[in-house]
Amino acid sequence: MKATAIASTDIALVKYWGRKNNELRIPSNTNIAMLLDDMLTTTTVEFSEEYEEDYFNFEGTDLEPGRAYDRVVRHVQRIRDVAGIELNAKVHSKNSFPAGTGLSSSSSGFGALTVATAKAAGLDLSIPELSRLSRMASGSACRTVVNGGFAIWHAGDSDETSYSEQLFPQDHWNLVDVIALVSKGPKKISSSRGHKLAPTSPFFEARNAYMPQRVDDCIQYIKDRNFSKLGELIEHEAIDLHCIMMSSYPNLLYMTKESFNLIKLVQQWREEEGIEAYFTLNTGQDVHIICEEGTKDKVVEKLKEIEDVRDVRVNHVGEGARLSEEHLF
Ligand code: PMV
Repeated sequence: MKATAIASTDIALVKYWGRKNNELRIPSNTNIAMLLDDMLTTTTVEFSEEYEEDYFNFEGTDLEPGRAYDRVVRHVQRIRDVAGIELNAKVHSKNSFPAGTGLSSSSSGFGALTVATAKAAGLDLSIPELSRLSRMASGSACRTVVNGGFAIWHAGDSDETSYSEQLFPQDHWNLVDVIALVSKGPKKISSSRGHKLAPTSPFFEARNAYMPQRVDDCIQYIKDRNFSKLGELIEHEAIDLHCIMMSSYPNLLYMTKESFNLIKLVQQWREEEGIEAYFTLNTGQDVHIICEEGTKDKVVEKLKEIEDVRDVRVNHVGEGARLSEEHLF
Protein backbone atom coordinates (compact mmCIF):
# COMPACT_ATOMS: atom_id res chain seq x y z
CA MET A 1 0.00 0.00 0.00
CA LYS A 2 2.84 2.39 -0.82
CA ALA A 3 2.97 4.53 -3.97
CA THR A 4 5.01 7.41 -5.32
CA ALA A 5 4.00 9.97 -7.91
CA ILE A 6 5.80 12.80 -9.68
CA ALA A 7 3.81 15.77 -10.96
CA SER A 8 4.81 18.86 -12.91
CA THR A 9 3.60 22.30 -12.12
CA ASP A 10 2.09 24.33 -14.94
CA ILE A 11 1.80 27.83 -16.33
CA ALA A 12 -1.66 29.01 -17.32
CA LEU A 13 -1.89 30.71 -20.71
CA VAL A 14 -5.57 31.46 -20.09
CA LYS A 15 -5.96 31.90 -16.34
CA TYR A 16 -8.29 30.48 -13.75
CA TRP A 17 -9.34 33.43 -11.61
CA GLY A 18 -12.54 33.48 -9.58
CA ARG A 19 -14.90 30.62 -8.90
CA LYS A 20 -18.55 29.85 -9.61
CA ASN A 21 -18.55 27.62 -6.55
CA ASN A 22 -15.94 28.00 -3.81
CA GLU A 23 -16.61 24.74 -2.02
CA LEU A 24 -16.29 22.63 -5.18
CA ARG A 25 -13.63 24.93 -6.69
CA ILE A 26 -15.57 25.31 -9.93
CA PRO A 27 -13.77 28.06 -11.88
CA SER A 28 -15.56 31.04 -13.38
CA ASN A 29 -14.03 30.30 -16.78
CA THR A 30 -12.55 27.43 -18.73
CA ASN A 31 -8.76 27.83 -18.74
CA ILE A 32 -5.65 26.48 -20.47
CA ALA A 33 -2.16 25.64 -19.20
CA MET A 34 1.14 24.26 -20.36
CA LEU A 35 2.78 21.68 -18.09
CA LEU A 36 6.41 22.41 -17.12
CA ASP A 37 9.20 19.84 -17.06
CA ASP A 38 11.59 21.35 -14.52
CA MET A 39 9.24 22.19 -11.67
CA LEU A 40 8.34 18.91 -10.06
CA THR A 41 6.87 17.55 -6.86
CA THR A 42 7.59 13.97 -5.80
CA THR A 43 5.31 12.43 -3.17
CA THR A 44 5.25 9.02 -1.52
CA VAL A 45 2.19 7.82 0.38
CA GLU A 46 1.79 4.70 2.45
CA PHE A 47 -1.28 3.50 4.34
CA SER A 48 -0.54 1.18 7.21
CA GLU A 49 -1.98 -0.15 10.46
CA GLU A 50 1.36 0.79 12.04
CA TYR A 51 0.63 4.51 11.80
CA GLU A 52 -1.25 5.91 14.78
CA GLU A 53 -2.04 9.16 12.98
CA ASP A 54 -1.44 10.80 9.62
CA TYR A 55 2.16 11.95 9.14
CA PHE A 56 3.24 14.59 6.67
CA ASN A 57 6.90 15.29 6.03
CA PHE A 58 7.76 18.11 3.63
CA GLU A 59 11.34 18.48 2.43
CA GLY A 60 12.70 16.53 5.41
CA THR A 61 10.65 18.27 8.13
CA ASP A 62 7.72 16.66 9.94
CA LEU A 63 4.80 19.07 9.84
CA GLU A 64 2.62 19.62 12.90
CA PRO A 65 -1.13 20.22 12.55
CA GLY A 66 -1.57 23.65 10.98
CA ARG A 67 -2.54 25.11 7.62
CA ALA A 68 -0.28 23.00 5.36
CA TYR A 69 -0.65 19.75 7.32
CA ASP A 70 -4.45 20.12 7.58
CA ARG A 71 -4.82 20.74 3.85
CA VAL A 72 -2.86 17.58 3.05
CA VAL A 73 -4.73 15.45 5.59
CA ARG A 74 -8.10 16.74 4.37
CA HIS A 75 -7.17 15.62 0.87
CA VAL A 76 -5.94 12.21 2.02
CA GLN A 77 -9.28 11.86 3.83
CA ARG A 78 -11.21 12.64 0.62
CA ILE A 79 -9.40 9.77 -1.08
CA ARG A 80 -9.81 7.44 1.91
CA ASP A 81 -13.55 8.12 1.69
CA VAL A 82 -13.62 7.16 -2.00
CA ALA A 83 -11.60 4.00 -1.31
CA GLY A 84 -13.57 3.12 1.82
CA ILE A 85 -10.45 2.64 3.96
CA GLU A 86 -9.68 3.91 7.44
CA LEU A 87 -5.92 3.37 7.73
CA ASN A 88 -3.64 6.27 8.63
CA ALA A 89 -1.13 7.49 6.10
CA LYS A 90 2.48 8.56 5.98
CA VAL A 91 3.18 11.20 3.32
CA HIS A 92 6.61 12.45 2.29
CA SER A 93 6.90 15.17 -0.30
CA LYS A 94 9.61 17.28 -1.91
CA ASN A 95 9.81 19.90 -4.61
CA SER A 96 12.50 20.65 -7.15
CA PHE A 97 11.80 24.39 -6.72
CA PRO A 98 10.82 26.85 -3.95
CA ALA A 99 7.24 26.48 -2.61
CA GLY A 100 4.76 29.22 -1.76
CA THR A 101 6.24 32.05 -3.80
CA GLY A 102 3.61 31.96 -6.54
CA LEU A 103 5.33 29.32 -8.68
CA SER A 104 2.24 27.10 -8.49
CA SER A 105 3.68 24.63 -6.00
CA SER A 106 0.13 23.69 -5.00
CA SER A 107 -0.66 22.46 -8.51
CA SER A 108 2.21 19.95 -8.68
CA GLY A 109 1.88 19.27 -4.94
CA PHE A 110 -1.75 18.25 -5.00
CA GLY A 111 -1.43 16.56 -8.41
CA ALA A 112 1.30 14.28 -7.02
CA LEU A 113 -0.57 13.76 -3.73
CA THR A 114 -3.75 12.73 -5.55
CA VAL A 115 -2.07 10.24 -7.86
CA ALA A 116 0.11 8.68 -5.12
CA THR A 117 -2.69 8.51 -2.52
CA ALA A 118 -5.21 7.03 -4.94
CA LYS A 119 -2.74 4.33 -5.96
CA ALA A 120 -1.69 3.60 -2.36
CA ALA A 121 -5.38 3.33 -1.45
CA GLY A 122 -5.81 0.67 -4.14
CA LEU A 123 -7.93 2.83 -6.46
CA ASP A 124 -7.65 2.64 -10.22
CA LEU A 125 -9.01 6.00 -11.35
CA SER A 126 -9.39 7.53 -14.80
CA ILE A 127 -7.79 10.89 -15.65
CA PRO A 128 -11.09 12.80 -15.30
CA GLU A 129 -11.63 11.17 -11.89
CA LEU A 130 -8.11 12.04 -10.73
CA SER A 131 -8.58 15.54 -12.11
CA ARG A 132 -11.85 16.09 -10.24
CA LEU A 133 -10.30 14.85 -7.00
CA SER A 134 -7.21 17.07 -7.42
CA ARG A 135 -9.47 20.04 -8.13
CA MET A 136 -11.03 19.72 -4.68
CA ALA A 137 -7.61 20.30 -3.08
CA SER A 138 -6.22 22.97 -5.43
CA GLY A 139 -7.94 24.17 -8.59
CA SER A 140 -4.89 24.35 -10.83
CA ALA A 141 -3.78 20.88 -9.64
CA CYS A 142 -6.56 19.38 -11.74
CA ARG A 143 -4.60 20.34 -14.89
CA THR A 144 -1.45 18.48 -13.85
CA VAL A 145 -2.86 14.94 -13.96
CA VAL A 146 -3.55 14.91 -17.72
CA ASN A 147 -1.25 13.01 -20.11
CA GLY A 148 1.21 15.91 -20.36
CA GLY A 149 1.55 18.78 -22.83
CA PHE A 150 -1.18 21.41 -22.92
CA ALA A 151 -4.20 21.00 -20.66
CA ILE A 152 -7.68 22.45 -20.78
CA TRP A 153 -9.76 22.67 -17.62
CA HIS A 154 -13.42 22.69 -18.61
CA ALA A 155 -15.10 24.98 -16.09
CA GLY A 156 -18.32 22.94 -16.08
CA ASP A 157 -20.96 23.65 -13.50
CA SER A 158 -20.80 20.65 -11.16
CA ASP A 159 -18.28 18.27 -9.65
CA GLU A 160 -18.81 15.81 -12.54
CA THR A 161 -18.37 18.37 -15.33
CA SER A 162 -15.41 20.38 -13.99
CA TYR A 163 -12.18 18.57 -14.92
CA SER A 164 -9.14 18.77 -17.20
CA GLU A 165 -7.99 16.85 -20.22
CA GLN A 166 -5.07 16.97 -22.60
CA LEU A 167 -5.52 19.51 -25.37
CA PHE A 168 -2.28 18.82 -27.26
CA PRO A 169 0.51 16.38 -26.42
CA GLN A 170 3.97 17.26 -25.12
CA ASP A 171 5.64 17.07 -28.53
CA HIS A 172 3.06 19.29 -30.26
CA TRP A 173 5.17 22.45 -29.92
CA ASN A 174 8.49 23.06 -28.19
CA LEU A 175 7.58 26.19 -26.32
CA VAL A 176 9.77 27.21 -23.42
CA ASP A 177 8.87 28.98 -20.18
CA VAL A 178 11.93 30.86 -18.93
CA ILE A 179 11.09 31.89 -15.37
CA ALA A 180 12.82 34.96 -13.99
CA LEU A 181 12.81 34.68 -10.21
CA VAL A 182 12.66 38.05 -8.55
CA SER A 183 10.66 37.13 -5.45
CA LYS A 184 12.32 37.57 -2.09
CA GLY A 185 10.02 35.44 0.07
CA PRO A 186 6.71 33.62 0.25
CA LYS A 187 3.71 35.39 -1.24
CA LYS A 188 1.57 37.15 1.35
CA ILE A 189 -1.90 36.61 -0.09
CA SER A 190 -3.06 33.09 -0.91
CA SER A 191 -4.65 32.53 -4.31
CA SER A 192 -7.72 31.13 -2.51
CA ARG A 193 -8.35 34.56 -1.02
CA GLY A 194 -7.80 36.13 -4.44
CA HIS A 195 -10.37 33.86 -6.10
CA LYS A 196 -12.95 34.88 -3.51
CA LEU A 197 -12.25 38.59 -4.03
CA ALA A 198 -12.33 38.46 -7.85
CA PRO A 199 -16.11 39.17 -8.14
CA THR A 200 -15.63 42.41 -6.17
CA SER A 201 -13.75 43.91 -9.13
CA PRO A 202 -16.02 46.05 -11.32
CA PHE A 203 -14.26 44.50 -14.33
CA PHE A 204 -14.88 40.86 -13.42
CA GLU A 205 -18.18 40.59 -15.27
CA ALA A 206 -16.63 42.11 -18.39
CA ARG A 207 -13.81 39.55 -18.20
CA ASN A 208 -16.22 36.64 -17.92
CA ALA A 209 -18.09 37.86 -21.00
CA TYR A 210 -15.06 37.64 -23.30
CA MET A 211 -13.44 34.52 -21.82
CA PRO A 212 -15.18 31.94 -24.07
CA GLN A 213 -13.77 33.72 -27.15
CA ARG A 214 -10.31 33.99 -25.57
CA VAL A 215 -10.32 30.27 -24.80
CA ASP A 216 -11.31 29.42 -28.39
CA ASP A 217 -8.61 31.73 -29.77
CA CYS A 218 -5.98 30.21 -27.51
CA ILE A 219 -6.85 26.68 -28.66
CA GLN A 220 -6.66 27.78 -32.31
CA TYR A 221 -3.27 29.52 -31.89
CA ILE A 222 -1.74 26.52 -30.12
CA LYS A 223 -3.19 24.20 -32.77
CA ASP A 224 -1.71 26.35 -35.59
CA ARG A 225 1.52 26.98 -33.64
CA ASN A 226 0.92 30.68 -34.26
CA PHE A 227 3.39 32.10 -31.78
CA SER A 228 2.84 35.84 -32.41
CA LYS A 229 -0.90 35.50 -31.89
CA LEU A 230 -0.52 33.26 -28.86
CA GLY A 231 2.07 35.61 -27.34
CA GLU A 232 -0.17 38.63 -27.80
CA LEU A 233 -3.04 36.73 -26.19
CA ILE A 234 -1.08 35.60 -23.14
CA GLU A 235 0.25 39.09 -22.39
CA HIS A 236 -3.29 40.53 -22.55
CA GLU A 237 -4.49 37.71 -20.35
CA ALA A 238 -1.78 38.31 -17.72
CA ILE A 239 -2.46 42.05 -17.62
CA ASP A 240 -6.23 41.47 -17.41
CA LEU A 241 -5.71 39.06 -14.52
CA HIS A 242 -3.68 41.64 -12.61
CA CYS A 243 -6.26 44.35 -13.41
CA ILE A 244 -8.92 42.20 -11.73
CA MET A 245 -6.60 41.65 -8.76
CA MET A 246 -5.71 45.33 -8.45
CA SER A 247 -9.33 46.47 -8.71
CA SER A 248 -10.72 43.96 -6.17
CA TYR A 249 -11.89 45.15 -2.74
CA PRO A 250 -9.52 45.13 -0.91
CA ASN A 251 -7.08 45.36 -3.79
CA LEU A 252 -4.44 42.72 -4.37
CA LEU A 253 -1.04 43.85 -5.53
CA TYR A 254 1.07 40.85 -6.42
CA MET A 255 3.45 42.56 -8.83
CA THR A 256 6.49 44.36 -7.50
CA LYS A 257 8.62 46.97 -9.20
CA GLU A 258 10.99 44.18 -10.26
CA SER A 259 8.14 42.31 -12.01
CA PHE A 260 6.98 45.50 -13.66
CA ASN A 261 10.45 46.41 -14.90
CA LEU A 262 10.85 42.94 -16.35
CA ILE A 263 7.60 42.93 -18.29
CA LYS A 264 8.51 46.28 -19.80
CA LEU A 265 11.93 44.91 -20.73
CA VAL A 266 10.39 41.86 -22.46
CA GLN A 267 8.32 44.20 -24.62
CA GLN A 268 11.37 46.37 -25.30
CA TRP A 269 13.51 43.38 -26.34
CA ARG A 270 10.75 42.36 -28.70
CA GLU A 271 10.25 45.79 -30.27
CA GLU A 272 13.86 46.93 -30.42
CA GLU A 273 15.84 43.71 -30.79
CA GLY A 274 13.35 41.36 -32.41
CA ILE A 275 13.52 38.83 -29.55
CA GLU A 276 10.14 37.20 -29.86
CA ALA A 277 9.18 36.41 -26.28
CA TYR A 278 6.06 37.24 -24.27
CA PHE A 279 5.46 37.49 -20.53
CA THR A 280 2.87 36.04 -18.23
CA LEU A 281 2.42 36.23 -14.45
CA ASN A 282 0.49 34.38 -11.77
CA THR A 283 -0.09 35.26 -8.13
CA GLY A 284 3.57 35.92 -7.55
CA GLN A 285 6.19 38.43 -8.45
CA ASP A 286 8.18 36.10 -10.69
CA VAL A 287 7.86 36.63 -14.42
CA HIS A 288 7.32 33.76 -16.86
CA ILE A 289 8.75 34.50 -20.29
CA ILE A 290 7.33 32.28 -23.00
CA CYS A 291 9.32 31.78 -26.19
CA GLU A 292 10.12 29.15 -28.79
CA GLU A 293 13.18 26.89 -28.37
CA GLY A 294 15.29 28.94 -30.82
CA THR A 295 14.90 32.13 -28.76
CA LYS A 296 15.48 30.58 -25.32
CA ASP A 297 19.27 31.13 -25.08
CA LYS A 298 18.95 34.78 -26.00
CA VAL A 299 16.27 35.30 -23.31
CA VAL A 300 18.37 33.53 -20.66
CA GLU A 301 21.41 35.62 -21.63
CA LYS A 302 19.40 38.84 -21.34
CA LEU A 303 18.00 37.86 -17.94
CA LYS A 304 21.43 37.04 -16.56
CA GLU A 305 22.45 40.67 -17.10
CA ILE A 306 19.67 41.92 -14.81
CA GLU A 307 20.64 42.43 -11.18
CA ASP A 308 17.13 41.90 -9.75
CA VAL A 309 16.86 38.44 -11.31
CA ARG A 310 18.00 36.02 -8.58
CA ASP A 311 17.66 32.89 -10.64
CA VAL A 312 16.45 31.68 -14.03
CA ARG A 313 14.58 28.38 -14.52
CA VAL A 314 14.18 26.99 -18.01
CA ASN A 315 11.12 24.77 -18.52
CA HIS A 316 10.10 22.87 -21.60
CA VAL A 317 6.64 21.38 -22.03
CA GLY A 318 6.21 18.74 -19.33
CA GLU A 319 4.69 15.32 -18.73
CA GLY A 320 1.55 14.72 -16.72
CA ALA A 321 1.57 13.25 -13.22
CA ARG A 322 2.95 9.72 -13.23
CA LEU A 323 3.80 6.91 -10.85
CA SER A 324 7.41 6.15 -9.94
CA GLU A 325 9.14 3.20 -8.31
CA GLU A 326 11.58 5.48 -6.47
CA HIS A 327 9.92 5.93 -3.09
CA LEU A 328 10.98 8.72 -0.74
CA PHE A 329 10.95 6.35 2.29
O1 PMV B 1 -4.98 26.85 -8.19
P1 PMV B 1 -4.81 28.13 -7.45
O2 PMV B 1 -5.88 28.36 -6.42
O3 PMV B 1 -3.43 28.27 -6.87
O4 PMV B 1 -5.02 29.35 -8.48
C1 PMV B 1 -4.18 29.58 -9.58
C2 PMV B 1 -4.34 30.98 -10.05
C3 PMV B 1 -3.41 31.43 -11.16
O5 PMV B 1 -2.14 30.86 -11.02
C4 PMV B 1 -3.26 32.95 -11.08
C5 PMV B 1 -3.98 31.14 -12.53
C6 PMV B 1 -3.88 29.72 -13.02
O6 PMV B 1 -4.77 29.37 -13.81
O7 PMV B 1 -2.94 28.99 -12.68
